[in-house]
Amino acid sequence: MGTWGIGVTGDPLSFDVVFGDGVFGDAGGDVREVVLDIGFGSGEALIEVAELRPHECVLGIDVHTPGVAAVLEAVQRRGLRNVRVVEGDVIDLLERIPERSLAAIRVFFPDPWPKRRQRGRRLIRPEIIKRLVPLLRTGGTLHLATDVDDYAAQMCAVCEAVPGLAGGVIERPAWRPITRYERRAIDEGRRPVDLVYIVI
Ligand SMILES: C[S@@+](CC[C@H](N)C(=O)[O-])C[C@H]1O[C@@H](n2cnc3c(N)ncnc32)[C@H](O)[C@@H]1O
Repeated sequence: MGTWGIGVTGDPLSFDVVFGDGVFGDAGGDVREVVLDIGFGSGEALIEVAELRPHECVLGIDVHTPGVAAVLEAVQRRGLRNVRVVEGDVIDLLERIPERSLAAIRVFFPDPWPKRRQRGRRLIRPEIIKRLVPLLRTGGTLHLATDVDDYAAQMCAVCEAVPGLAGGVIERPAWRPITRYERRAIDEGRRPVDLVYIVI
């Protein structure tokens, strides 16, 4: 994993140490915004957004080894200093992330698990959201996207049940790149939905 990889288990992370000083250059001043991107897939959106938003420090995690390798290669090739990558299950990583340390958590198109008997495997479920929300600072955002209607409804229900979270469906933000996954969903006639919840 070299310079840009972070272990999925271990001591709590200090983002000052993880991202180092001066990572922002002139673009971000002293503002350090750490964003957790869960399940980045092949990583094309993560890389594009990290390049467009150099003031954001992106910690990306995925279990899929080829995607992790693709992001590490792109980080190296493009000289991105604001991206770190974890290979593994996000549930194992959560203990390493200090409470109220994140400006945003992004979960774009988590695995849909469409069959009724598989629904318990969906990432956006009450016990996971209860662990994610305390990692966000006040004003921090949980940004979700899905192309599965009943998953969008599940996301709404799960988030609305958390005290101190406010939000719902938003218009698709222009800055969120269309990935191959989303393009296929659109081509197959599904309608992606974005939801943003803010910690109040
Ligand atoms: C449907 S893909 C979407 C990828 C990407 N976000 C996009 O929009 O194209 C879901 C991704 O989540 C990853 N994933 C699923 N469960 C995960 C978990 N528990 N921890 C980390 N990554 C996970 C999968 O490996 C896969 O790459």
